[in-house]
Amino acid sequence: MKRILLFAVLVASAVAMAACGASSSGSKPPTNQDQGAVMAEPASEIVIKASNFKFDMAEYKVKKGQPVKLTLQNVEGVHGVAISGVNLNLKAGETVEYTFDKAGTYDIVCNIYCGAGHAQMRAKLTVVE
Ligand code: CUA
Repeated sequence: MKRILLFAVLVASAVAMAACGASSSGSKPPTNQDQGAVMAEPASEIVIKASNFKFDMAEYKVKKGQPVKLTLQNVEGVHGVAISGVNLNLKAGETVEYTFDKAGTYDIVCNIYCGAGHAQMRAKLTVVE
């Protein structure tokens, strides 16, 4: 019985790891759009709040060409943030200032393996003109 449980745990973590390694070309469509809030207006200071296993918003907004301060706050659990397309990574409690010079939508993902819901920790960052 114990052995079966251990095997199940190993399989589950292998699946989670595989999902973690997958890039934007992953087989599953993003599912975060149907949950969580969308920022109405772009902000120049954004605190991304992470918990098990989600970010506090489904979509964050910033303005193109305007410096933005991005902070990661871990409300629950241990999470990190990586923003695709730009070389931006945030650790817990860290603030990074960045200016997006291209409008578009970037993927925010958790970059620390944090448990069963790791692969679901996704959000969008939209850079508006
Ligand atoms: Cu949160 Cu991985």
